[in-house]
Amino acid sequence: MPLQINHRLLPLLALAGLSLAGAAVGVASEPTANGYDEQAPLSAVAQLGKKLFFDPSLSGNGQMSCASCHDPANHYAPANGLAVQLGGLHLDQPGIRAVPSLAYKTSTPSFSIGEESAADEAAEASPMTEASGVALANAPASVAGPLTAQAVKADAAAANLVPRGGMFWDGRIDSLEEQALQPMISPFEMANADVATVYAKLKKGYGKDISALFGDNVLNDRDMMISEIGFALARYQIEEPSFHPYTSKYDYYLRGKAVLTDTEARGLKLFDDANKGNCASCHLDKMTGDGQMPNFTDFEFEALGVPRNPAIPANADAHYYDTGICGPLRNDTYSVQQQNCGLFKTPTLRNVATRHVFFHNGVYRTLEDVTRFYVKRDTNPEEIYPKDASGKVVKYDDLPPQYRANIDIIDAPMNRKLGDAPALSDAEIADVVAFLRTLSDGYDPAKDSVKAAR
Ligand code: HEC
Ligand code: HEC
Repeated sequence: MPLQINHRLLPLLALAGLSLAGAAVGVASEPTANGYDEQAPLSAVAQLGKKLFFDPSLSGNGQMSCASCHDPANHYAPANGLAVQLGGLHLDQPGIRAVPSLAYKTSTPSFSIGEESAADEAAEASPMTEASGVALANAPASVAGPLTAQAVKADAAAANLVPRGGMFWDGRIDSLEEQALQPMISPFEMANADVATVYAKLKKGYGKDISALFGDNVLNDRDMMISEIGFALARYQIEEPSFHPYTSKYDYYLRGKAVLTDTEARGLKLFDDANKGNCASCHLDKMTGDGQMPNFTDFEFEALGVPRNPAIPANADAHYYDTGICGPLRNDTYSVQQQNCGLFKTPTLRNVATRHVFFHNGVYRTLEDVTRFYVKRDTNPEEIYPKDASGKVVKYDDLPPQYRANIDIIDAPMNRKLGDAPALSDAEIADVVAFLRTLSDGYDPAKDSVKAAR
């Protein structure tokens, strides 16, 4: 796969007017947060990707584009507050999972299961990363202090076989390229009848662009055409700066150009502290040795046991469960392995304060509730889960009982027992949330200093 992409990339770089040497190592004239030249104009292929991204005629009913769910005005996440979005031919078919943001996805490695610690893995660039010239922006800090959360979870991970990477909450697709076809034929998303329909539409609407960019042969080869379209959509997400701006207050803080308030600074400390929030053990927050910004995920999969969300229509069926890697949407050798059931990919927390719903099933609507879930799940489960008919609290109610052993009860803050004090007090939860709010892009340091001076 990497070979194929690189092969295709060569003429593209020429098209984009980038020097090969510069692109290969991600060096921009002015070093940027992610090592990619944010000033470069979109290549012709990325411009095609952009057209496709916003084109509703590529959906079954002609009304829905990628941007309908991945709204550029909201960091490529939905603008509305629905737990799951409506799609399909009549825009009335509910999805089964919350829509993730598309920002900061370009450094996602391919799906793998391995013993490698995060640090080893970071040394290998994913095919996506190599192909795009985007330097690895998610690598964990090479030098972590002894008490930082990063160090604590890396040890635990090394002992286990950990799934990581891939696209979607269940990692079922390896790359942005391969991902693009899925929403186009999903019955609850863009709902084209089949791949042949998509192919016919592309040929009709984009035939000229496609033959100019990829050659006439592609026009008559359905699989090639679908693959080039995926490539174009991926190039758009890689090249368009608003998919990875790195302009949050925290980014300015890391570059020494902003000062956190007392509350935010306390929140960051709790986020890092291996005995308190321990959030950074999964949501990596340190700059790497070579100056790459953190992406707030280690791309690993975890079963957190978040409560069932009755707002998802599929959940009306008591026998239905979303078990992440084990399906319903994933169907391969990994989805039949019991130890993977209930595991979902750790999402980035960049722009998390602009999201309306949280977790794969959108069960929470505030960051306070999310953080409270982490610290009270086991100490005060009656505040987190519903009760059954006999009045007993049903802990981990969104997973079938046989998979509940997969739920993480080892990593802090989820290692507490019934009746223990929660790892964070309400005041500390408020501090962590204040810190999470510093992760939204579009921070203006000039405005902030004016405010501070007043
Ligand atoms: C009806 C809403 C909807 C539309 C339209 C839609 N998506 Fe999505 N998208 C989703 C949902 C829901 C998920 C998560 C699905 C899952 O995890 O199983 C997702 C996930 C993704 C992901 C993976 C992100 C991650 O965090 O792993 C990418 C990339 C993506 N979509 C790109 C696109 C592109 C490109 C289009 C247009 C061709 C598109 N989407 C159209 C709802 C939508
Ligand atoms: C052991 C790894 C791990 C730790 C520790 C951890 N998280 Fe997470 N986080 C995850 C995973 C995995 C998910 C997705 C789970 C799901 O949807 O089922 C997630 C999801 C989230 C989300 C929802 C994001 C979205 O887009 O829906 C937020 C917010 C969040 N975590 C904040 C925190 C905070 C705050 C802490 C510390 C108090 C923390 N996390 C600790 C792994 C972790």
